[in-house]
Amino acid sequence: MKKPLAVLMFAAAASAAGAASAADIVANPKAAPNKIEQCIGCHGIPEYKTAFPEVYQVPMIGGQSAKYIEAALQAYKKGDRKHPQMTPTARVLSDQDIADIAAYYAQQSSATPNK
Ligand code: HEC
Repeated sequence: MKKPLAVLMFAAAASAAGAASAADIVANPKAAPNKIEQCIGCHGIPEYKTAFPEVYQVPMIGGQSAKYIEAALQAYKKGDRKHPQMTPTARVLSDQDIADIAAYYAQQSSATPNK
């Protein structure tokens, strides 16, 4: 009778620790500038179109909500959303990078697009 209880308590402790580590990510927009150098090349120019592998318009991300940006990057990272440029870009970002970048772009307004 004692053993199963110990296993159960261990499992509960482990899952509590797992939940804590996900909540540990605190978005820090000040850490973003050196993580977004590559993003600026495509997202930094209003109305910008890039020409590889085909001509497509790059959406504005400055001023969008952090939740939206974070969800979009996570979707590319997990493969739920696919794009030849964004999939490899998002794959190399950590969850912390994504939180920092989302917070950074969310602080911008349409008057200061994507800087
Ligand atoms: C080579 C060009 C390129 C680079 C570099 C790039 N992006 Fe993108 N990004 C795009 C294009 C094109 C789309 C639209 C793709 C689509 O339709 O799914 C996009 C979409 C997005 C979206 C979703 C926008 C929306 O309205 O749904 C986010 C968020 C985003 N990029 C963030 C980033 C971040 C952050 C970086 C840098 C870490 C980055 N991108 C680097 C071209 C680029």
